[in-house]
Amino acid sequence: MQFSYSNPTHIYFGQGQINSISSAIDSSSKVLVIYGGGSIKKNGVYDQVTQALSNHQWFEFSGVEPNPTKETLDKAVAMVKEHDIDFILAVGGGSVIDGSKYVAAAAQYDGDGWDIMIGKHAVTSATPLGAILTLPATGSESNSGAVITKAETHDKLPFMSSHVQPVFAVMDPDVMKTLPERQLLNGLVDAWVHVCEQYLTFDHGAMVQDGYAEALLRNLKHLGAEFAERDSDQWRANLMWTANQALNGLIGSGVPHDWATHMIGHEFTALWHVDHARSLAIVQPHLLRNQLESKKAKLEQLGRNVFDLPASDDLALKTIEQIEAFYHSLGVDTTFNGYENDKQGAVDAVINQLEKHGMVALGEKQAINLEQSRQILQQAIV
Ligand code: NZQ
Ligand code: ZN
Repeated sequence: MQFSYSNPTHIYFGQGQINSISSAIDSSSKVLVIYGGGSIKKNGVYDQVTQALSNHQWFEFSGVEPNPTKETLDKAVAMVKEHDIDFILAVGGGSVIDGSKYVAAAAQYDGDGWDIMIGKHAVTSATPLGAILTLPATGSESNSGAVITKAETHDKLPFMSSHVQPVFAVMDPDVMKTLPERQLLNGLVDAWVHVCEQYLTFDHGAMVQDGYAEALLRNLKHLGAEFAERDSDQWRANLMWTANQALNGLIGSGVPHDWATHMIGHEFTALWHVDHARSLAIVQPHLLRNQLESKKAKLEQLGRNVFDLPASDDLALKTIEQIEAFYHSLGVDTTFNGYENDKQGAVDAVINQLEKHGMVALGEKQAINLEQSRQILQQAIV
């Protein structure tokens, strides 16, 4: 175990906390409020933001789409430059927060913001940003990652920079009241896979990271089983905090990571606009079967400590079946048939994308090459 860990995002958690932005953002700042397709106008969040910023000078940029595109975000970059914005307030789900991170970094760069995504420009500064989270799922509100799409070329790529870590995150579970059921389910699945990507690798004996990851997985399993309770304050608060902790850097410190499910899943979103979380459920069970031998110890540990399975020779396999059953219990599919033409063409399309994006040695041991990915996709695409 060897790591350096800091999570500098100040969390304002609980009902009524949106008001905290009044003092969390310096009143001399010129603020750009960035949001999505308008859900915040229907659920009172926009009104609360307006109220809280009554002593600030602020502008707004709307229309950030799910799976945010560079094409849209570059318009916000131009606004930041034109108005000398010195604070960005992202109000939305992972897409709005990720998009705002791109804007924050690209605004401090003279070239094309996409250079950040392809590694041509290393981020050395960014406009400071804060987040008001409206959809618990990605953890983007208190991490340094973002995933951006170039619509023109169907490229969906991640970038990480400590410069775009939000300085604060407001997490008021009341904002979840207007979330469509589909998005709540997506939140459960995305957070589940985030924990898995940092846990389901090989035995490393890091007790804090493993134990905490298992606690989060048990929470998510419980929240899924109690989905009928989703209108309770407690249910909402627990999902919001669990999804945050799943990807705020702590459980991933000093342990191996996988992220292959995410990298393959991103291609489903880029090609067929599959919701992020649903792309993960399509890939993960097949990937785990493909990597059964090298992930066996951790799958068995998950089966014992999260699903309470008894010891058996096929415990690892049974654990994968439980994961699949968890997704199915939420009505989330674990295979994909939404392609236009033939199955083989769909498999080839994903492989071509992975190759184009250099995703040719994925997983904690870089063992998932294009041949392994092809085998996984043969099962995932039906
Ligand atoms: O655009 P609006 O009108 O706000 O509507 C959104 C959107 O249509 C709606 N919504 C959000 N909050 C709502 C609401 N509707 C009603 N009431 C509310 N309170 O939900 C829809 C989906 O929103 P989106 O932000 O796209 O969802 P999510 O939070 O799942 O974010 C997905 C994006 O995050 C990336 C994904 O790749 C994807 O692009 N990820 C970011 C990560 C990170 N930064 O660490 C990690 C993740 O693995 C993930 O890759
Ligand atoms: Zn995710």
